[in-house]
Amino acid sequence: MEEDLRRLHSEAHEALAAIRAPQDLEPFRVKYLGRKGRFTLLMRQLGQVSAEERPRLGKLANDLKVALDEALVLKEAEFGAGAAKAARAGEDLTLPGRRQPFGRLHPVTQVMNEVCAIFEGLGFAVAEGPDVETDFYNFEALNIPPHHPARAMHDTFYVNDTLLLRTHTSPMQVRTMQRERPPLRMIAPGKVYRCDSDITHTPMFHQVEGFLVDRKVSFADLKGVLALFIGKMFDPKTAIRFRPSFFPFTEPSAEVDIGCVICGGSGCRVCKHTGWLEILGAGMIDPEVFKKVGYDPEEYTGFAFGLGIERIAMLKFGITDIRLFYENDLRFLAQF
Ligand code: FA5
Repeated sequence: MEEDLRRLHSEAHEALAAIRAPQDLEPFRVKYLGRKGRFTLLMRQLGQVSAEERPRLGKLANDLKVALDEALVLKEAEFGAGAAKAARAGEDLTLPGRRQPFGRLHPVTQVMNEVCAIFEGLGFAVAEGPDVETDFYNFEALNIPPHHPARAMHDTFYVNDTLLLRTHTSPMQVRTMQRERPPLRMIAPGKVYRCDSDITHTPMFHQVEGFLVDRKVSFADLKGVLALFIGKMFDPKTAIRFRPSFFPFTEPSAEVDIGCVICGGSGCRVCKHTGWLEILGAGMIDPEVFKKVGYDPEEYTGFAFGLGIERIAMLKFGITDIRLFYENDLRFLAQF
Protein backbone atom coordinates (compact mmCIF):
# COMPACT_ATOMS: atom_id res chain seq x y z
CA MET A 1 0.00 0.00 0.00
CA GLU A 2 2.77 2.39 0.99
CA GLU A 3 4.58 1.65 -2.24
CA ASP A 4 1.36 2.15 -4.26
CA LEU A 5 0.80 5.50 -2.56
CA ARG A 6 4.34 6.74 -3.23
CA ARG A 7 4.23 5.53 -6.87
CA LEU A 8 0.93 7.24 -7.51
CA HIS A 9 2.23 10.38 -5.84
CA SER A 10 5.33 10.64 -8.00
CA GLU A 11 3.38 9.75 -11.14
CA ALA A 12 0.84 12.51 -10.34
CA HIS A 13 3.64 15.03 -9.74
CA GLU A 14 5.23 14.21 -13.06
CA ALA A 15 1.87 14.51 -14.83
CA LEU A 16 1.28 17.88 -13.17
CA ALA A 17 4.73 19.16 -14.10
CA ALA A 18 4.09 18.21 -17.74
CA ILE A 19 0.91 20.32 -17.97
CA ARG A 20 1.39 23.27 -20.36
CA ALA A 21 -2.11 24.72 -20.76
CA PRO A 22 -4.65 25.79 -18.10
CA GLN A 23 -7.43 23.76 -19.72
CA ASP A 24 -5.49 20.56 -18.83
CA LEU A 25 -5.59 21.29 -15.07
CA GLU A 26 -9.22 20.30 -14.54
CA PRO A 27 -8.90 16.84 -16.19
CA PHE A 28 -5.82 16.31 -14.01
CA ARG A 29 -7.73 17.18 -10.85
CA VAL A 30 -10.56 14.84 -11.79
CA LYS A 31 -8.17 12.01 -12.65
CA TYR A 32 -6.15 12.10 -9.41
CA LEU A 33 -8.07 14.04 -6.77
CA GLY A 34 -11.72 13.81 -7.87
CA ARG A 35 -14.38 11.78 -6.07
CA LYS A 36 -13.59 8.82 -8.30
CA GLY A 37 -9.95 9.88 -8.76
CA ARG A 38 -7.03 7.51 -8.31
CA PHE A 39 -5.92 8.98 -4.98
CA THR A 40 -9.40 8.75 -3.56
CA LEU A 41 -9.85 5.16 -4.69
CA LEU A 42 -6.49 4.16 -3.22
CA MET A 43 -7.30 5.79 0.11
CA ARG A 44 -10.51 3.77 0.25
CA GLN A 45 -8.35 0.64 0.41
CA LEU A 46 -7.04 1.77 3.82
CA GLY A 47 -9.96 -0.15 5.33
CA GLN A 48 -8.28 -3.41 4.35
CA VAL A 49 -4.95 -2.52 5.99
CA SER A 50 -4.16 -3.98 9.41
CA ALA A 51 -5.21 -1.92 12.42
CA GLU A 52 -1.55 -1.28 13.49
CA GLU A 53 -0.50 -0.05 10.04
CA ARG A 54 -3.65 2.01 9.38
CA PRO A 55 -2.76 5.21 11.36
CA ARG A 56 0.69 5.55 9.78
CA LEU A 57 -0.50 4.78 6.24
CA GLY A 58 -3.57 6.97 6.71
CA LYS A 59 -1.37 9.89 7.71
CA LEU A 60 1.01 9.22 4.81
CA ALA A 61 -1.87 9.07 2.29
CA ASN A 62 -3.27 12.27 3.68
CA ASP A 63 0.08 14.10 3.58
CA LEU A 64 0.69 13.03 0.00
CA LYS A 65 -2.81 14.13 -1.06
CA VAL A 66 -2.39 17.52 0.66
CA ALA A 67 1.00 17.94 -1.05
CA LEU A 68 -0.59 17.19 -4.42
CA ASP A 69 -3.45 19.63 -3.71
CA GLU A 70 -0.89 22.34 -2.93
CA ALA A 71 1.13 21.56 -6.04
CA LEU A 72 -2.07 21.89 -8.09
CA VAL A 73 -2.82 25.30 -6.51
CA LEU A 74 0.72 26.46 -7.32
CA LYS A 75 0.34 25.28 -10.90
CA GLU A 76 -2.95 27.16 -11.22
CA ALA A 77 -1.22 30.29 -9.94
CA GLU A 78 1.47 29.79 -12.58
CA PHE A 79 -1.20 30.13 -15.30
CA GLY A 80 -3.03 32.86 -13.40
CA ALA A 81 -6.06 32.19 -11.22
CA GLY A 82 -8.44 33.59 -13.85
CA ALA A 83 -7.03 31.31 -16.51
CA ALA A 84 -7.52 28.19 -14.38
CA LYS A 85 -11.06 29.24 -13.47
CA ALA A 86 -11.82 30.01 -17.10
CA ALA A 87 -10.37 26.66 -18.12
CA ARG A 88 -12.69 24.94 -15.64
CA ALA A 89 -15.60 26.84 -17.28
CA GLY A 90 -14.48 25.55 -20.66
CA GLU A 91 -12.99 28.85 -21.84
CA ASP A 92 -9.63 29.21 -23.52
CA LEU A 93 -7.90 32.44 -22.60
CA THR A 94 -5.15 31.83 -25.12
CA LEU A 95 -7.61 32.53 -27.96
CA PRO A 96 -7.30 36.02 -29.53
CA GLY A 97 -9.82 38.57 -28.21
CA ARG A 98 -13.06 39.36 -30.03
CA ARG A 99 -12.71 42.57 -32.00
CA GLN A 100 -15.21 45.29 -31.05
CA PRO A 101 -16.67 46.78 -34.23
CA PHE A 102 -16.04 50.52 -34.57
CA GLY A 103 -19.07 52.73 -35.02
CA ARG A 104 -18.91 55.44 -37.65
CA LEU A 105 -20.81 58.53 -38.69
CA HIS A 106 -23.80 58.06 -40.98
CA PRO A 107 -22.96 59.27 -44.52
CA VAL A 108 -25.65 61.95 -44.24
CA THR A 109 -24.07 63.21 -40.99
CA GLN A 110 -20.64 63.21 -42.64
CA VAL A 111 -21.90 65.32 -45.53
CA MET A 112 -23.86 67.59 -43.18
CA ASN A 113 -20.69 68.21 -41.15
CA GLU A 114 -18.68 68.90 -44.30
CA VAL A 115 -21.27 71.37 -45.65
CA CYS A 116 -21.42 73.21 -42.32
CA ALA A 117 -17.61 73.33 -42.09
CA ILE A 118 -17.36 74.95 -45.55
CA PHE A 119 -19.86 77.69 -44.67
CA GLU A 120 -18.36 78.20 -41.22
CA GLY A 121 -15.05 78.71 -43.02
CA LEU A 122 -16.75 81.51 -44.99
CA GLY A 123 -17.81 83.18 -41.73
CA PHE A 124 -21.39 81.87 -41.48
CA ALA A 125 -22.67 81.24 -37.93
CA VAL A 126 -24.79 78.16 -37.15
CA ALA A 127 -28.34 78.33 -35.74
CA GLU A 128 -30.71 75.46 -34.99
CA GLY A 129 -34.47 75.55 -34.66
CA PRO A 130 -37.43 73.30 -33.83
CA ASP A 131 -38.60 70.40 -36.04
CA VAL A 132 -42.20 70.99 -34.92
CA GLU A 133 -42.90 74.43 -36.28
CA THR A 134 -45.84 76.82 -36.34
CA ASP A 135 -47.76 77.54 -39.52
CA PHE A 136 -46.63 81.15 -39.09
CA TYR A 137 -42.88 80.46 -39.31
CA ASN A 138 -43.09 77.67 -41.87
CA PHE A 139 -45.48 79.47 -44.24
CA GLU A 140 -47.04 82.80 -43.34
CA ALA A 141 -43.94 84.77 -42.41
CA LEU A 142 -42.36 83.40 -45.59
CA ASN A 143 -45.01 85.07 -47.69
CA ILE A 144 -47.14 81.92 -48.06
CA PRO A 145 -50.54 82.85 -46.61
CA PRO A 146 -53.28 80.21 -46.03
CA HIS A 147 -54.76 78.91 -49.27
CA HIS A 148 -51.77 80.19 -51.24
CA PRO A 149 -51.09 77.70 -54.07
CA ALA A 150 -47.39 77.55 -53.04
CA ARG A 151 -48.44 75.47 -50.02
CA ALA A 152 -49.05 72.65 -52.46
CA MET A 153 -45.28 72.65 -53.23
CA HIS A 154 -44.75 71.01 -49.84
CA ASP A 155 -46.77 67.96 -48.86
CA THR A 156 -47.05 68.88 -45.22
CA PHE A 157 -47.43 66.64 -42.16
CA TYR A 158 -49.74 68.59 -39.85
CA VAL A 159 -49.71 68.06 -36.07
CA ASN A 160 -52.87 70.17 -35.60
CA ASP A 161 -54.35 73.33 -37.16
CA THR A 162 -51.39 75.53 -36.26
CA LEU A 163 -48.50 73.12 -35.70
CA LEU A 164 -46.70 71.06 -38.35
CA LEU A 165 -43.44 69.26 -39.01
CA ARG A 166 -41.33 71.87 -40.77
CA THR A 167 -41.19 71.25 -44.50
CA HIS A 168 -37.96 73.23 -44.94
CA THR A 169 -35.34 75.03 -42.88
CA SER A 170 -36.45 78.47 -44.18
CA PRO A 171 -38.43 79.23 -40.95
CA MET A 172 -34.99 79.77 -39.40
CA GLN A 173 -34.53 82.84 -41.62
CA VAL A 174 -37.52 84.42 -39.89
CA ARG A 175 -36.64 83.27 -36.37
CA THR A 176 -33.09 84.60 -36.72
CA MET A 177 -34.08 87.92 -38.33
CA GLN A 178 -36.65 88.53 -35.58
CA ARG A 179 -33.92 88.07 -32.99
CA GLU A 180 -30.98 89.83 -34.61
CA ARG A 181 -30.19 92.88 -36.72
CA PRO A 182 -28.11 92.88 -39.94
CA PRO A 183 -25.42 92.23 -40.94
CA LEU A 184 -26.30 88.53 -40.72
CA ARG A 185 -24.47 85.54 -42.09
CA MET A 186 -26.12 82.34 -40.91
CA ILE A 187 -26.64 78.70 -41.74
CA ALA A 188 -29.38 76.55 -40.20
CA PRO A 189 -28.92 72.79 -40.59
CA GLY A 190 -31.63 70.30 -39.66
CA LYS A 191 -34.24 67.68 -40.42
CA VAL A 192 -37.29 68.52 -42.52
CA TYR A 193 -40.38 66.47 -43.38
CA ARG A 194 -42.60 66.02 -46.41
CA CYS A 195 -45.07 63.37 -47.43
CA ASP A 196 -42.91 62.29 -50.34
CA SER A 197 -41.09 59.06 -51.28
CA ASP A 198 -39.29 57.84 -54.41
CA ILE A 199 -35.67 57.28 -55.51
CA THR A 200 -34.77 60.96 -54.95
CA HIS A 201 -37.25 61.84 -52.16
CA THR A 202 -37.70 60.59 -48.57
CA PRO A 203 -40.36 61.70 -46.05
CA MET A 204 -37.64 62.94 -43.68
CA PHE A 205 -34.53 64.52 -45.10
CA HIS A 206 -31.97 67.17 -44.20
CA GLN A 207 -31.52 70.69 -45.39
CA VAL A 208 -29.07 73.43 -44.66
CA GLU A 209 -30.50 76.90 -44.93
CA GLY A 210 -28.09 79.72 -45.58
CA PHE A 211 -28.76 83.44 -45.63
CA LEU A 212 -26.86 86.66 -45.68
CA VAL A 213 -28.40 90.08 -45.06
CA ASP A 214 -26.60 93.39 -45.27
CA ARG A 215 -26.59 96.62 -47.24
CA LYS A 216 -26.02 96.24 -51.00
CA VAL A 217 -26.05 92.42 -51.15
CA SER A 218 -26.64 91.31 -54.75
CA PHE A 219 -27.42 88.16 -56.73
CA ALA A 220 -23.73 88.15 -57.75
CA ASP A 221 -22.84 87.58 -54.07
CA LEU A 222 -25.22 84.64 -53.98
CA LYS A 223 -23.67 83.14 -57.12
CA GLY A 224 -20.18 83.70 -55.78
CA VAL A 225 -20.87 82.01 -52.44
CA LEU A 226 -22.66 79.03 -54.03
CA ALA A 227 -20.00 78.53 -56.71
CA LEU A 228 -17.35 78.58 -54.01
CA PHE A 229 -19.29 76.07 -51.93
CA ILE A 230 -19.91 73.68 -54.87
CA GLY A 231 -16.26 73.90 -55.91
CA LYS A 232 -15.17 72.91 -52.41
CA MET A 233 -17.80 70.21 -51.95
CA PHE A 234 -17.27 68.57 -55.34
CA ASP A 235 -14.58 68.85 -57.99
CA PRO A 236 -13.74 72.55 -58.62
CA LYS A 237 -14.59 71.87 -62.28
CA THR A 238 -18.16 70.67 -61.50
CA ALA A 239 -20.71 72.11 -63.93
CA ILE A 240 -23.20 74.49 -62.24
CA ARG A 241 -26.49 75.74 -63.64
CA PHE A 242 -28.79 78.41 -62.22
CA ARG A 243 -32.33 77.79 -63.41
CA PRO A 244 -35.07 80.43 -62.99
CA SER A 245 -37.57 79.25 -60.41
CA PHE A 246 -40.15 80.46 -57.95
CA PHE A 247 -40.23 80.60 -54.16
CA PRO A 248 -42.70 82.97 -52.46
CA PHE A 249 -39.98 84.11 -50.04
CA THR A 250 -37.32 85.03 -52.63
CA GLU A 251 -37.40 87.28 -55.68
CA PRO A 252 -35.80 86.57 -58.08
CA SER A 253 -35.49 82.84 -57.34
CA ALA A 254 -33.39 80.09 -58.83
CA GLU A 255 -32.82 76.41 -58.52
CA VAL A 256 -29.23 75.31 -58.74
CA ASP A 257 -28.28 72.12 -60.53
CA ILE A 258 -24.91 70.47 -60.82
CA GLY A 259 -23.81 68.17 -63.61
CA CYS A 260 -24.86 64.61 -62.72
CA VAL A 261 -21.72 62.97 -61.36
CA ILE A 262 -23.29 59.53 -61.66
CA CYS A 263 -23.61 59.48 -65.46
CA GLY A 264 -21.22 62.36 -66.20
CA GLY A 265 -24.08 64.31 -67.77
CA SER A 266 -25.08 61.75 -70.38
CA GLY A 267 -28.39 60.96 -68.64
CA CYS A 268 -29.38 58.26 -66.15
CA ARG A 269 -32.19 57.14 -63.83
CA VAL A 270 -31.05 59.44 -61.01
CA CYS A 271 -30.93 62.65 -63.09
CA LYS A 272 -34.08 61.55 -64.93
CA HIS A 273 -32.04 61.56 -68.16
CA THR A 274 -31.41 65.33 -68.02
CA GLY A 275 -27.72 65.17 -67.10
CA TRP A 276 -28.40 67.57 -64.17
CA LEU A 277 -29.37 67.11 -60.56
CA GLU A 278 -31.03 69.83 -58.50
CA ILE A 279 -29.28 70.36 -55.19
CA LEU A 280 -30.71 73.59 -53.87
CA GLY A 281 -33.19 76.41 -54.12
CA ALA A 282 -32.07 80.02 -53.69
CA GLY A 283 -32.84 83.65 -54.35
CA MET A 284 -32.84 87.22 -53.05
CA ILE A 285 -34.92 87.51 -49.88
CA ASP A 286 -38.34 88.94 -50.77
CA PRO A 287 -39.06 92.44 -49.36
CA GLU A 288 -42.31 91.00 -47.91
CA VAL A 289 -40.27 88.72 -45.63
CA PHE A 290 -38.17 91.68 -44.47
CA LYS A 291 -41.36 93.59 -43.65
CA LYS A 292 -42.64 90.68 -41.54
CA VAL A 293 -39.52 90.85 -39.32
CA GLY A 294 -39.31 94.64 -39.19
CA TYR A 295 -36.32 95.16 -41.52
CA ASP A 296 -36.47 98.09 -43.96
CA PRO A 297 -36.29 96.55 -47.48
CA GLU A 298 -35.05 99.89 -48.81
CA GLU A 299 -32.05 99.67 -46.52
CA TYR A 300 -31.24 95.96 -46.56
CA THR A 301 -31.01 93.25 -49.16
CA GLY A 302 -30.03 89.65 -48.72
CA PHE A 303 -29.86 86.25 -50.30
CA ALA A 304 -30.98 82.85 -49.04
CA PHE A 305 -30.57 79.28 -50.14
CA GLY A 306 -31.71 75.86 -48.96
CA LEU A 307 -29.82 72.78 -49.95
CA GLY A 308 -30.75 69.11 -49.71
CA ILE A 309 -28.05 67.16 -47.88
CA GLU A 310 -29.15 63.70 -49.10
CA ARG A 311 -28.95 64.89 -52.71
CA ILE A 312 -25.40 66.10 -52.15
CA ALA A 313 -24.49 62.83 -50.39
CA MET A 314 -25.91 60.86 -53.33
CA LEU A 315 -23.80 62.79 -55.78
CA LYS A 316 -20.70 62.67 -53.65
CA PHE A 317 -20.86 58.92 -53.04
CA GLY A 318 -22.49 57.87 -56.33
CA ILE A 319 -25.65 56.50 -54.69
CA THR A 320 -28.57 55.95 -57.01
CA ASP A 321 -31.44 55.53 -54.54
CA ILE A 322 -31.91 58.01 -51.65
CA ARG A 323 -33.90 55.46 -49.63
CA LEU A 324 -30.73 53.40 -49.01
CA PHE A 325 -29.68 56.02 -46.44
CA TYR A 326 -32.59 55.07 -44.20
CA GLU A 327 -32.75 51.30 -44.51
CA ASN A 328 -30.08 50.92 -41.80
CA ASP A 329 -28.34 48.12 -43.67
CA LEU A 330 -24.87 47.96 -42.11
CA ARG A 331 -23.42 46.47 -45.32
CA PHE A 332 -24.35 49.75 -46.99
CA LEU A 333 -23.52 52.13 -44.13
CA ALA A 334 -20.12 50.58 -43.36
CA GLN A 335 -18.82 51.63 -46.77
CA PHE A 336 -18.55 55.29 -45.85
C1 FA5 B 1 -37.05 74.62 -50.36
O1 FA5 B 1 -37.25 73.81 -49.46
C2 FA5 B 1 -36.73 76.06 -50.07
N1 FA5 B 1 -36.98 76.34 -48.67
C3 FA5 B 1 -35.29 76.32 -50.44
C4 FA5 B 1 -34.96 77.76 -50.44
C5 FA5 B 1 -34.37 78.32 -49.34
C6 FA5 B 1 -35.24 78.56 -51.54
C7 FA5 B 1 -34.06 79.68 -49.33
C8 FA5 B 1 -34.94 79.89 -51.55
C9 FA5 B 1 -34.35 80.44 -50.44
P1 FA5 B 1 -37.17 72.85 -52.27
O2 FA5 B 1 -38.52 72.37 -51.94
O3 FA5 B 1 -36.80 72.94 -53.70
O4 FA5 B 1 -36.92 74.27 -51.66
O5 FA5 B 1 -36.09 71.94 -51.51
C10 FA5 B 1 -34.72 72.28 -51.45
C11 FA5 B 1 -33.84 71.06 -51.70
O6 FA5 B 1 -34.20 70.01 -50.80
C12 FA5 B 1 -34.05 70.46 -53.08
O7 FA5 B 1 -33.20 71.08 -54.00
C13 FA5 B 1 -33.63 69.02 -52.86
O8 FA5 B 1 -32.23 68.90 -52.91
C14 FA5 B 1 -34.05 68.75 -51.44
N2 FA5 B 1 -35.32 68.01 -51.34
C15 FA5 B 1 -36.57 68.45 -51.53
N3 FA5 B 1 -37.48 67.50 -51.28
C16 FA5 B 1 -36.79 66.39 -50.89
C17 FA5 B 1 -37.15 65.08 -50.45
N4 FA5 B 1 -38.40 64.70 -50.29
N5 FA5 B 1 -36.16 64.21 -50.14
C18 FA5 B 1 -34.88 64.60 -50.22
N6 FA5 B 1 -34.46 65.83 -50.61
C19 FA5 B 1 -35.40 66.71 -50.93
